[in-house]
Amino acid sequence: MIYYDEDKKTFTLKTKDTCYVMGILYSKYLFHYHYGTLTDAICYALPPEVSFSTSPPELDYTGFSLETLMAEYAYYGTGDFRATSLRLRCRNDESTMFCYKEHRIYFADYKQSEIPCAYGKHIPTLDIVLSDEVFGCTLTLRYKVFRDSNVITRSAILRNENATDTVTVENCMSMCLDLYGSDYDVLSLYGSYGNEMNLKRNPLFFGNQRLISRRGATGHIYNPFFAVCDHAADYDSGNVYGLNLIYGGSFLSEIEVSAHSPVGKPYDTVRLQTGVCPENFGYVLCPRETFVAPEAVMTFSSCGINGMTENMHRFVNTAILPHARQKMPIVLNTWEACFYDINEEKLLSFARMCPSLGIDTLAVDDGWFARRNDDASGLGDWKIDRKKFPSGLRVFAEKVSQYVDFGIWIEPEMISKDSDLYRRHPEWVLGKTSRPLSIGRHQYVLDLTRDEVLDYLKDTCCEMLRDVPVRYIKWDMNRHLTEVGSFAHDDDAGGGIAHRYIMGVCKLLHWFRVTFPDVCLETCSGGGGRYNLALAAYSDMIWASDNTYPAERLLTETGALTGYPASMMSCHVSCPSDSEASEREMENRFAVAAMGTLGYELDLHRLPETALATIGSQTQRYKLFRDTVAKGTYRVVRSPHSDGVGAISFIQGDDFVLICAGLRRCASTSTELPFADENAVYTEMLSGETVNGKELKSGAYAGKLLAGGCATVKYFVKESKRTC
Ligand code: GLA
Repeated sequence: MIYYDEDKKTFTLKTKDTCYVMGILYSKYLFHYHYGTLTDAICYALPPEVSFSTSPPELDYTGFSLETLMAEYAYYGTGDFRATSLRLRCRNDESTMFCYKEHRIYFADYKQSEIPCAYGKHIPTLDIVLSDEVFGCTLTLRYKVFRDSNVITRSAILRNENATDTVTVENCMSMCLDLYGSDYDVLSLYGSYGNEMNLKRNPLFFGNQRLISRRGATGHIYNPFFAVCDHAADYDSGNVYGLNLIYGGSFLSEIEVSAHSPVGKPYDTVRLQTGVCPENFGYVLCPRETFVAPEAVMTFSSCGINGMTENMHRFVNTAILPHARQKMPIVLNTWEACFYDINEEKLLSFARMCPSLGIDTLAVDDGWFARRNDDASGLGDWKIDRKKFPSGLRVFAEKVSQYVDFGIWIEPEMISKDSDLYRRHPEWVLGKTSRPLSIGRHQYVLDLTRDEVLDYLKDTCCEMLRDVPVRYIKWDMNRHLTEVGSFAHDDDAGGGIAHRYIMGVCKLLHWFRVTFPDVCLETCSGGGGRYNLALAAYSDMIWASDNTYPAERLLTETGALTGYPASMMSCHVSCPSDSEASEREMENRFAVAAMGTLGYELDLHRLPETALATIGSQTQRYKLFRDTVAKGTYRVVRSPHSDGVGAISFIQGDDFVLICAGLRRCASTSTELPFADENAVYTEMLSGETVNGKELKSGAYAGKLLAGGCATVKYFVKESKRTC
């Protein structure tokens, strides 16, 4: 719900449990009042007067200053000295001040398009239009309210209304949120290749903290999701703000804590911003052109980190992933099983074994196309290797489809130096002419800012998949962008090439979804290098990491789950060495993989009979509870990020899945399950065991599991429910 109070000049946006209020001062300055719980007693306090700060030209000696104002959006050069949301350049001037012009409250339908966004029908939307008369530009701040998930999304739409001058956008953040005070912690996801999305909690400090990617992809190092919470907040109580960005490219999330008041009158502010990375941006807006900043996602919960996570999960499931499959296939992927050593005979025999193991899809990973016996060549040509697959792709896929669905890996954005495509079109590579290009995994990135490259990829996909019964595609991206520029345009095609590149990727993904609506799409980037909401807006699931070693993957998965739902997380059981194919190790790996969409990367020929039987039993068990994992409420009972011992659950009504992972030593293992009904009796559906609710609630049951030194999954259904 959104309303405007004409007398007070305030806008109020309400979700189920949260309220966001902003107002207009002196008929022109938009500022922020409140974001938090629903409350009628909002304090409309103005910042205290601070000496030494400047005022807008017409407000000298009034004590009003943009330096301390809680801003809705911050402009460069006109008195707000904190982190800036908008920095433009026109005729050698960089100072701007956008003032309120008009607003519009309406309902709109949003659906999947070439620009990734949060979608839904009849979404309450507020557009506040501001203008800078000197630059002749308008800025529309757009707010969309997702009531049930307690999410408000924001974006900024900048239009150059100027008839003659171009305007260069140096920085255009998607949102700015100022909070009172400074006593907060920040939760962020950090990592590296094979060690993605570890959750870290740090106290905020005075100054700037930045989570940034300059890679043309969100990357493995930081993730755009982050949260800010009270020092005292824990998983089940306290105020927590969660933020994310529906964007797949280089991003910046920035936090600035500043003190403004004289000693004894504490008045600190925290500014949170997220948007496209402003470094090397320089996006040129010609007269009458528009730049749309990607949509940012904000949520608030007074019920701790679990409350914030629940909001984010509901939002992503309903507004980012509604296109995704209700039931994801259980995939057997060939990568860790065989790497490049694949051929028709071997894979057909895997396909024959799959149905009895409960596996739905055989996904042929890298290595199926010509000149691809290692990673040195072949990307870009996309012709099947007839030596490995003498029947050709269509016939081979048909043969596989007699047993299971057929799936295949592609990496369309890339080109090997050793490929026919590169020899034909060296200018299709993304780069600047002035220096030799860095090379990553022997490959370059294709210039997806160019329409002819997008057309080539569309034609190649159609040609490659024509008449092939393909049901699943894994879309990979195995290097990031360097020497960013476009050979196509001397002037770099209007700047912002890295941004235009990722928008090209989104165009291609959107086209792919429309053209192949029945194909299940898993995206990936050298593991979890593009685990973000923009890619999720086109994918059924995203591969979280190449690291499938349980003790480490547990951290990646539970880190990712803080901001992203289990339904989009693809997780496989792999087995790097035969000694680990023991039943205990297979179960260990299964329990960790069961936190998302289960799959396998195993050489079925090398597994002992017992391990094959274990897979059959695992897929059967998984099918009983996978709906609860995908749709249930995720709750961290014990975070593995503090002591390496994790207990998490997915709750759906009276039933819940419990995954305990005592993979490292820890002092105490007794772990209470507050949501268990102590007066009830539960059936553990995977073993048939009957368990007393008291034992679950008191912590004794989970304690025993954690002491076992192995990850375990249990699925509890409340007895009374089953009998009535
Ligand atoms: C990336 C992916 C892997 C696999 C390889 C193939 O590293 O993350 O899962 O597909 O590429 O080259």
